Amino acid sequence: MKHIFKEGTDPNAPVLLLLHGTGGTEHDLLPLAEALSPKSAVLSVRGNVLENGMPRFFRRLAEGVFDEEDLLFRTQELYDFVDSAAVQYGFNRERVVAVGYSNGANIAGSLLFHHPNALNGAVLYHPMVPRRGVSLPDLEGMPVFIGAGSNDRMCTPAETEDLSALLQSAGAEVQLFWDHMGHQLTANEVKASTAWFAKHYTA
Ligand code: MLT
Repeated sequence: MKHIFKEGTDPNAPVLLLLHGTGGTEHDLLPLAEALSPKSAVLSVRGNVLENGMPRFFRRLAEGVFDEEDLLFRTQELYDFVDSAAVQYGFNRERVVAVGYSNGANIAGSLLFHHPNALNGAVLYHPMVPRRGVSLPDLEGMPVFIGAGSNDRMCTPAETEDLSALLQSAGAEVQLFWDHMGHQLTANEVKASTAWFAKHYTA
């Protein structure tokens, strides 16, 4: 997969797996990584699917309606890519924390839904429920931050609450942060997630 890898300066800091939103690239979330954990190594990936020229991590049939077969295929593809990148760049595969926005948050959610050991935590900005009607793996103690907007028409508050409940019922430790905004990522969310990150990952 097309990506950027940046070495970290602290080998004990988690590796950040950055996953952009629809129409984004692997460059978009780099400043966010700097805010969340400046000493971390960063693996920032570009989605392999194009929708009218816009990169995404999996196909959708309509806005908010996912192509489930493609979602599963792309989730496995990303999982395998992270495995091979860990070998190529020599980072700790067990310390990967996903940071995703919108479509990127949805594929990160899908990694959590399908692979208990894919991630060591996740920061999900404006996610949806990636897939319904499936039982989740054991996510006991998995730290998950969800940033959401109370006026987000794409990733509605009901979706957010559902996702949070599903992850919690699988054992994840979810912190849900609401801003009174829409689908955009806000400075308040970044601030709240930075504090969350420091609490969970700074020794
Ligand atoms: C998705 O398709 O993953 C969500 O609807 C959000 C987005 O457009 O990125």
